[in-house]
Amino acid sequence: MQFPHVDPIPIPAPVWLMKALSILTLTLHFFAVQLLIGSLVAVIYFSVKAKGGKDAASSVAALATARRLPIIMTFVINLGVPPLLFAQVLYGRAFYSSSILLGVEWLAVVFLVMACYWLLYRTADRTLNGKPVHWQAGGALVLAALVGHIYASVMTLMLKPEVWQEMYAKTATGLQSAPHDPTLEPRLLFVLVGGLLLGGLWLTLHSKMQTIASDAGDLLRRTGSIMAVAGAVGELVVGFWAYSVQPAEVQTGLHTTFYTVSMGIWGVGFILALLGAVILVGRKANPVLFSFVGALGAFLGLAGAVIVRDGIRDVTLLQKGFDVWKRVEYSNWFVIGLFLLLLVLGIVAIGWLLLVMKAAKPVQEKVIS
Ligand code: HEM
Repeated sequence: MQFPHVDPIPIPAPVWLMKALSILTLTLHFFAVQLLIGSLVAVIYFSVKAKGGKDAASSVAALATARRLPIIMTFVINLGVPPLLFAQVLYGRAFYSSSILLGVEWLAVVFLVMACYWLLYRTADRTLNGKPVHWQAGGALVLAALVGHIYASVMTLMLKPEVWQEMYAKTATGLQSAPHDPTLEPRLLFVLVGGLLLGGLWLTLHSKMQTIASDAGDLLRRTGSIMAVAGAVGELVVGFWAYSVQPAEVQTGLHTTFYTVSMGIWGVGFILALLGAVILVGRKANPVLFSFVGALGAFLGLAGAVIVRDGIRDVTLLQKGFDVWKRVEYSNWFVIGLFLLLLVLGIVAIGWLLLVMKAAKPVQEKVIS
């Protein structure tokens, strides 16, 4: 047995419930990560195009995109915490092993996220004054990609118990990187490339806002729709790549009705997103309607992909002797009920906040020079 033996505490809720919540929250985490990545790419482009404030439409487009970045980051982090907790509870023996072996990288995430956050605030602040931001936004993009790379490394290494012993024998300091794995790049790129899709749809969604000057809005629509088309095609191609590099026995393990349907949802979702994006390229399309159609497709595509990703983990670990469905469970239904109640109350509170925000008097988004 390659996995550590200790698992002294039974899990406090059924495996299916934890998995369902983990899949939902991880889908939303990826959604937010992609908004962040895509917005950063767009801000860099607008900043370069603005030529230090000489092109007014680009300056406003940079401002409108950049000032939403810190808010997006709160969603990236807050929607990353729940799947982190579920991954630890369900797969602790694999997950702790890999995160300890890569301890230095793993702990560096905290500081990288903080630095990234700081750069997002700097970017938002500078665009307000019409200053160029490509270095700040570029720095934030590199840091975010680095964080994604660390997550992908830890999540990939947790599937390879056969290399843990040797890595630990090499050094117990946590200062090492995982041996190369051909599945890592496509799974990381799958999340990053989707940034063009979600970021693009985010731009088109804002293109007709009253608070954004019409020439800037037009630039947002043109840029956003092209980004979204590229991102949707990218998701289909990279998604297929990520699946095809899985070992043959893992692919065979995924030949069940559940995972076949999930793969179908994944493909259909991104094709729907692509359709929405292509329609948005046309000047006459309703940007709000088709941004939502695209976002719905992206959500379905991501959810399908997250389910298959979860299946890849389960099938791989099962073949190596770890069956997550055999975890000892001792459900505390009072606490689970309380949790679900608070979850619903939280969603209602967010809805209420959004209504209040919608009723507020709009303020023109413009550069203060
Ligand atoms: C800029 C910030 C971030 C980026 C770009 C990012 C990106 C990513 C990427 C690319 C993956 C996929 C890895 C894979 O498939 O192997 C991932 C997974 C994950 N991320 Fe994030 N992430 C960020 C921040 C966070 C934060 C702050 C948290 C938690 C507090 C978090 C929690 C997670 C978890 C738990 C997973 C894997 C869940 C699972 O396997 O069940 N992420 N993230």
